[in-house]
Amino acid sequence: MKEEQLNELFYSLTLEEKIYQLVQLSGDFYKTAAVAVGPKGKLGISQEVVDNAGSILNIIGAEQIIKIQKNYLENSRHKIPLLFMADIIYGYKTIFPIPLALGCTWNPDLIRECCIKIAEESAVSGAHVTFAPMADLVRDPRWGRVMESTGEDTYLNTLFTSAMVKGFQGDFTADKSIASCVKHFAAYGASEAGREYNTVDMSERRLRQDYLPSYKTAVDSGCEMVMTSFNIVDGIPATGNKWLMKDVLRDEWGFEGVIITDYAAIQELIAHGVASNDREATKLSIEAGVDIDMKTSCYSNNLRQLIDDGEIKKELIDESCLRVLKLKNKLGLFENPYRGASIEKEKEVLCCAENIKLARKVSAESLVLLQNNNVLPISKKNKKIALIGPYGDNTSIIGLWAIHGDQSDVTTLKDAIAEKIDANNFCYAKGCELLEDYTFLGDFGKMVNGGETSDTNPEQDLEEAISVAMESDVVILALGEHMMQSGEAGSRTNITIPKIQLDLLDKIRELGKKIVLVIFSGRPLVLTNVLDKVDGIIQAWFPGTEGGHALADVLFGDVNPSGRLTMSFPYSVGQVPVYYNEFNTGRPVKTSTHSERFMSKFLDCPNDPLFSFGYGLSYTTYEYSDLVVSKDILKVGEIMEAKVSITNKGKIKGTETVQLYIRDFVGSVVRPVKELKGFKKVTLAPGQSKQVVFYIGEEQLMFFTKNLEYKSEKGEFMVFIGGNSNNTLEMKFTFI
Ligand code: BGC
Ligand code: BGC
Repeated sequence: MKEEQLNELFYSLTLEEKIYQLVQLSGDFYKTAAVAVGPKGKLGISQEVVDNAGSILNIIGAEQIIKIQKNYLENSRHKIPLLFMADIIYGYKTIFPIPLALGCTWNPDLIRECCIKIAEESAVSGAHVTFAPMADLVRDPRWGRVMESTGEDTYLNTLFTSAMVKGFQGDFTADKSIASCVKHFAAYGASEAGREYNTVDMSERRLRQDYLPSYKTAVDSGCEMVMTSFNIVDGIPATGNKWLMKDVLRDEWGFEGVIITDYAAIQELIAHGVASNDREATKLSIEAGVDIDMKTSCYSNNLRQLIDDGEIKKELIDESCLRVLKLKNKLGLFENPYRGASIEKEKEVLCCAENIKLARKVSAESLVLLQNNNVLPISKKNKKIALIGPYGDNTSIIGLWAIHGDQSDVTTLKDAIAEKIDANNFCYAKGCELLEDYTFLGDFGKMVNGGETSDTNPEQDLEEAISVAMESDVVILALGEHMMQSGEAGSRTNITIPKIQLDLLDKIRELGKKIVLVIFSGRPLVLTNVLDKVDGIIQAWFPGTEGGHALADVLFGDVNPSGRLTMSFPYSVGQVPVYYNEFNTGRPVKTSTHSERFMSKFLDCPNDPLFSFGYGLSYTTYEYSDLVVSKDILKVGEIMEAKVSITNKGKIKGTETVQLYIRDFVGSVVRPVKELKGFKKVTLAPGQSKQVVFYIGEEQLMFFTKNLEYKSEKGEFMVFIGGNSNNTLEMKFTFI
């Protein structure tokens, strides 16, 4: 539709009709052929709102969407199509690894490819918008939603966020792309104690320096929508925070797209204690610049009255409505309200061979080898292998947020191993349940199949496991968190492998066999007491539809692992938050001259995490040498080279992630001990050496200085290059 036509349409709407464009309801209202049957009463909205609401949440599937859209339009005066939005976070039907695993690939181009495929599957299934990427920086593994983030580093997160937005949106081709909604703006990942929906409080400096850049990059990459977060930002919930939405997002960053609340977040302003009723909550949100109300009756039932009472300006509604209409127009809905939805194309595209192949590749690239005492890779011949554990033959490895995925598409680890080795050399036993008790999962848990069985016999499970282990040369133990122990509202304080599974591990260990532990989890777990009990550890995360195949590829050496952690694994949960780019403090434990007691440290635990940011092993080893910087003194406007040689010292080909960090020794405000500024993945044949060059200029040295200006400051810097944040070569330079 041309702009003039759109404006004409806009002017023809009544105030109510404009308001209804700002209302998002869940699919329950529209699911049957007859429009508008459903829980209206509970939400407190009228039939008129249902018939005119602007968008729907989490309904997907071409047949269903075509039907709903058709019915809706038949009853609609202006024939303004519904917008269909959904949580398609790391896959629609082909499920890729969870974002925290995707981060471990250190491969934004590959992640972009995944999002192109995700968008295509979603578009032919009728979705218009995905509530992704989640750009929240995370430092606290107690928080269940770390699984949805790419990790603890701002720079890496910006690269991934941009790749995802561009992958989803492409060039807006109807059957290949969807609009992207970055979330949760802002700083949702910093909830205190990692407790879900809890308080966030930080300085504006930290907010701008560490937390905001990934959302901003999404906006700069053309992201069409932004979702508000549940938390407060400087004392005011994001959903009613005018400074955040208007001053920062709209005015500073120039965002012209649509702002949507998180689920029922307007009404939650009341529980937060900044509004005493729906009406006040509505006023705060619309004045903050929030366009769409997800899942409450606040906007539909209060905006009109607020205007009539002269409490808010009508223009606010106009602006928001126009933004929604523009998005619909950009998606081409006025020309074709069904857009890419096609039952025929779904058959061609969903879980097609190409997507499955990509999922296997990405999944293998996301696996992180944490430990290897000469046990991996496992030889395919002449070894008897026992696969034991509740994740050995379990399809729930797609993880919690793959809400539209089908577990029936998953190849389990057991089936994938069976494809690789002689059946005579392979046996499997479950060993134990995932959890000793599932009741905490509650009603929600009953909706999701997390792999639990109803008829359990613990003694028999254990006996079987011991007997298959005794027959074997190597035991692969597939353990981990229940998939519902992470994800939204999956906060935990005791972030270990569940006790029932650790007991199994101890029993197997008594047999003296070689053990490879494969860990499925949505977060970094505390593995300190596990390390010495096993010979090898692969961190599998929730690896998606093709996780089984990818793991088998790595276990048997068809793929040399190359994943690198993007979130530190704590030594103890008491260290949390523990992250690599911390500040030095006035009494740094490594260099302070104070007596030992009076340094910044714990009495009962090291300061360092168990596995640091950037860490990950390979089946070969890499040697770093000859770090040189092209200038001792770097001037404004100049670019300097930092070069290093890397040699593959082992017997097989491998891909190393070469990481560049910088430290600014003295600033007008304190600066981190290390900050990632670049990385390169290099593939090396056995014995091969390559030189890797990074370019450093003023841009890499900038930060939010004392006056919150983003700029550089002169002084001494250190360049570090290495294979992880804790093992680098280093060299100084001066910036003048
Ligand atoms: C989550 C969002 C999600 C929304 C819609 C909320 O509970 O926080 O991430 O997009 O629900 O399903
Ligand atoms: C302590 C202070 C104390 C000072 C003098 C410092 O180490 O932090 O609380 O007053 O020593 O003894």
